[in-house]
Amino acid sequence: MENKKEVFTALMVEINAILESSGRITPKMQAIGQLLKDRVPYYDWVGFYLGDESTRMLELGPFAGEPTEHVKIPFGRGICGQAAQRREPFMIQDVSQELNYLSCSVNVRAELVVPIFKDGQITGELDIDSHTSWPFSDEDRVFLEQICAAVGPRL
Ligand code: SME
Repeated sequence: MENKKEVFTALMVEINAILESSGRITPKMQAIGQLLKDRVPYYDWVGFYLGDESTRMLELGPFAGEPTEHVKIPFGRGICGQAAQRREPFMIQDVSQELNYLSCSVNVRAELVVPIFKDGQITGELDIDSHTSWPFSDEDRVFLEQICAAVGPRL
């Protein structure tokens, strides 16, 4: 993608406008997921998981892309569960190299998961699957962290 930074800056303006509009958060998360999938060519599946540090379980929330069988993921399992356990973003540029991985589709090559916090507690995650190998850079992580920081307080 030409000039990620410009694309991400423009998308962040649209995402903030979605979040600041009136209405419930769930359809807004759906709109954000769809926007990301439509506008970033290597974001092939974009979904939110909602989590809880007391149950240590993630549950699939709004997503854009093919349905997944991984609707409930315990902390520690897969890339999503590991990101929740570590409380940090987890970027895997080649999923064939990751043993603790839950496959959603044979087409997925890379995955980036960013935790969402509210009042210091994990309350969800933003998960991106890509059909391209080595698609992500720190710009993706920073962009997704901005989105998660904007969504978190509204959950
Ligand atoms: N691949 C993820 C599971 C969720 S799907 O990507 C939608 C994982 O390893 O946690």
